[in-house]
Amino acid sequence: MRKLVIANWKMNPPTLKKARELARKISIGVSSVRGVETIIAPPFVYIDALSKIKGVKLGAQDAFWEKKGAYTGEISAPMLKNLGVKYIIVGHSERRHFLGETDEMVARKTRLALEEKLTPVVCVGEHSRTDNSFHAFVKNQLLASLQSVPRREADGLVVVYEPVWAISSKGGAADDPKDILEMAIFVRKILHDAFGKKQASQIRVLYGGSVDGDNAEELAKQSGVDGFLVGGASLRPKEFVRIVRAVARGV
Ligand code: PGA
Repeated sequence: MRKLVIANWKMNPPTLKKARELARKISIGVSSVRGVETIIAPPFVYIDALSKIKGVKLGAQDAFWEKKGAYTGEISAPMLKNLGVKYIIVGHSERRHFLGETDEMVARKTRLALEEKLTPVVCVGEHSRTDNSFHAFVKNQLLASLQSVPRREADGLVVVYEPVWAISSKGGAADDPKDILEMAIFVRKILHDAFGKKQASQIRVLYGGSVDGDNAEELAKQSGVDGFLVGGASLRPKEFVRIVRAVARGV
C-alpha cells in the first residue's frame, strides 16, 4: 500500500505569498522521494493557487456534507474536486472541539466525499489516557464516524489515529511508538470487523500528533502505520521533507 504523509497547515500561513513559498519548498524537497504520496492541505483560500504545484497532491481541511445549496460560509466537496483536491480531512479534533462537529456530521461528510470519489481522511483519537476507557472511546468514535460508509466503498478511506493530547499546539508530545502500534492494530481490527478483510486491508491507517523531523524515523519504523498527518512541522519545509524521507525509508 502506498504510504502517505499529509501536511495539515491548519489556519496558516498568513499570506498567499508565504503559502506559495512553502508549497514550492516542499515540492522541491520531496521531488526525489519515491514510494510516498505527499499531500498538502492548505486553507481553502490558497487551494486554487497551489493547484499547479508539482509532486504533491492537494487536500482540504474540511468539506460540507451537502453538495450545494443555502449553507452560508460552507465549501462543497464538488467545488474542491473541481480545483484538483483529492483528499478531504474530516473530523479533525480541532473542528470537533471548536466548531462542535459531531460524529453524525463527520459521518455525513465522509459519505459525501466518497460519493464524490474523493478520499476522506477520517480523524479519531482520545482526549486523555487518564483511565482505561480510551479504547472504547476510539472504537465508538471510529464506528460512529464511519456509520454511513457502505462496505464496498470502505477501501477508499484513510483513517488517522490522532490522540488529542499528543497534538503539538496543545503542548503535547508524540505518543510512544509501541502504543501507536498497539492502537494501529486495534483500529485495523475494528475496520476488519466492520468492513471485512478485503476492504479493510486497503484502508491506510495514519498516526498524527507531534510528528517532527527528529521522531519521524523511529515512528516510521516502529509504529506500524502507513504514514502521518503532520501539523506544526508541516510549516517548516526542511523538517517536513525529513519526515517524508523517513516514511519512504520506513517500516
Ligand atoms: P501536530 O498537529 O503535528 O502539530 O501535533 C497534528 C494535527 O493536529 O493534525
